[in-house]
Amino acid sequence: MIKTRITEKFGIKYPIISAPMGPFYTTKLAVAVSEAGGLGVVSHATLRGINSIKDFKEQLDYMVEHTDKPFGLNVRVARIQTDHKVLLRKIPQWRKENPKLREQLIYGLTSAGGPRDAGKMWKEKASDMYHFHVGPALWLVDKIVESGCDGIVATGTEGGGHQSYEGVTTLVLVQQIAQKYPEKLLVACGGIASPEGVAGGLAMGADAVAMGTRFIASNQSEFNQNYKDLISPATARDTMLTTGGFGPIRLLKNKYCLEHGKVMTKDEKISQELAYDIDEYLKDLLAYEIVYTKGDVVDGAVPVGQTCGLIDSILDVDDIISGYTKKAERILTNLCSKIS
Ligand SMILES: Cc1cc2nc3c(=O)[nH]c(=O)nc-3n(C[C@H](O)[C@H](O)[C@H](O)COP(=O)(O)O)c2cc1C
Repeated sequence: MIKTRITEKFGIKYPIISAPMGPFYTTKLAVAVSEAGGLGVVSHATLRGINSIKDFKEQLDYMVEHTDKPFGLNVRVARIQTDHKVLLRKIPQWRKENPKLREQLIYGLTSAGGPRDAGKMWKEKASDMYHFHVGPALWLVDKIVESGCDGIVATGTEGGGHQSYEGVTTLVLVQQIAQKYPEKLLVACGGIASPEGVAGGLAMGADAVAMGTRFIASNQSEFNQNYKDLISPATARDTMLTTGGFGPIRLLKNKYCLEHGKVMTKDEKISQELAYDIDEYLKDLLAYEIVYTKGDVVDGAVPVGQTCGLIDSILDVDDIISGYTKKAERILTNLCSKIS
């Protein structure tokens, strides 16, 4: 058995977390991951304000109805994500109203903005929920630590979906954070989709690993079958960073991605957000919606990581969680046996 600070504190069996993947739903996936002994994470599935608070609450209700195990959630705190302030306030309230939710919802991950507002709100009103924030570079991790977060999800540039402008790899980032902030809880994320990756993340000092693309290609995820079927044949070179709603986004190189264009600079992106062209924004959202509503993986946006190059089949969540951890244990034991 691999025991880490996270398995102990979170009360989970295996050091594996499912990464949030909004605007796609990962509720059924989160149930499967938590039931398998990892930590399932509910995604911030809505990009627009309409009905999004109710939608989020329904996902949390679904979780407590379908599992008794611990789980987490993600809130994207980007300026353009108009529902995030209400959500940050509602989450402690929902936990207070429902003791089962309070007991199980132990992990709140914020991303795509700064951690300060969530940190303040949750420290005061949900102090028994671990607050983590996504850190894509060491100078941003300094700010996360200053804000009082319990932990960091170190997410490197090889990962799928929304990325930062930083371009630092998971390999370098995890080591940097483990060295500078050994007291902070640390999750390695981005580029992990194998037992070797699990062992590597833990060996570098992470307390757990998080995987996104690997879990899309699982039998229990609610991603469209057309989406799942694209992952195994894709190679590590078949993804590209392009312009997304909150900055660069790593997508599979399909028609949409190739036509969508190069990454804007940070300044250009901020001025676009400030000018806030609603038509452009809605057009962009539609490219994601048609993937989950119709399975249109040609004209739609298909976020995946370079880990496509590691994934050659669709697996059961259970095989990923317990299978990968057991093999990671053998890898680490074998390594130790080589030390004389
Ligand atoms: C389809 C998809 C959607 C994503 N949406 C989000 C999101 O809403 N919030 C977030 O913090 N990260 C998001 N990410 C990033 C993941 O949480 C994670 O960092 C990434 O999947 C890790 O790389 P991997 O796919 O190689 O495992 C998304 C990733 C994917 C593939």
